[in-house]
Amino acid sequence: MRHLIDILELSTEEIAELIKTAEDIIENPKKYSEKCHGKKLATLFFEPSTRTRLSFEAAMMELGGNVLGFSEATSSSASKGESVADTISVVSCYADIIAMRHPKEGAPVVATRTAGVPIINAGDGGHNHPTQTLTDLLTIHREKGTFDGLTIGLCGDLKFGRTVHSLISAMSRYKNIKFILISPDELKLPEYIIEDFLEKNNIEYIETASLEEYMPELDILYMTRVQQERFFNEQDYIRLRDSYILTKEKLIPAKPDMKVLHPLPRVNEISVDVDADPRACYFKQVLNGKYMRMALILKLLGL
Ligand code: CP
Repeated sequence: MRHLIDILELSTEEIAELIKTAEDIIENPKKYSEKCHGKKLATLFFEPSTRTRLSFEAAMMELGGNVLGFSEATSSSASKGESVADTISVVSCYADIIAMRHPKEGAPVVATRTAGVPIINAGDGGHNHPTQTLTDLLTIHREKGTFDGLTIGLCGDLKFGRTVHSLISAMSRYKNIKFILISPDELKLPEYIIEDFLEKNNIEYIETASLEEYMPELDILYMTRVQQERFFNEQDYIRLRDSYILTKEKLIPAKPDMKVLHPLPRVNEISVDVDADPRACYFKQVLNGKYMRMALILKLLGL
């Protein structure tokens, strides 16, 4: 039985296969509309979500399957003290595959110990978010046609942003990647990610506090929100939340074919006037997430 807890559990060949399947689903949706007939997906969300939960549910429905689950811990028996391990044992009796999000880093690994069905990590604390990374990879592939040779700017909360951590680990396996890490000092990328992925793989990177300085070099600009829910001190969040706001004017020096991605939700970090710019890809990215999750469900169910 195969789970997906960390993006590196998928080889680059498997990621290429998932992208191929997702693109085939986009071209031929009818071919896939009954693939999961009789199967059930449980979405266990101990932390809020719009895109991840609903795209998983839409994905399973478009594959002809059914969905069950909960969208907040308070509406589950976790609120009575039930452990993650017990919750997973129980839900394994009802569903064929489980997508779970939890505020505690490592909770999906704990889940795999008692799971009778595949577990998908739909985000664990400030740690990882592998299905967002699959979404990002499909978007980059469709927009740029390659993963090699890209200069990728990652901007905002690089400390707590789990989508950034997973994307760096995934992209560190491709050739000639360069990262521009744009953040305030307090929200810099954790040292373990720099050591384990960037330095270990001799990947070029620059740390800067300036969004403008490297704009003309970027092929991808990946904006992120400052993760309010991970701060211990509200004053720090208020001070840092508007560190970067991407506007139409700031995009003027960018390459005409640069692409702006954002895992969403957006707070203030991308001005709405950027939405009409052809380089803005974050709503296409949302749709790609559904197709990539369809491909992943098929793979983990062995269909
Ligand atoms: N990108 C993402 O994880 O969004 P949600 O928190 O809405 O699921």
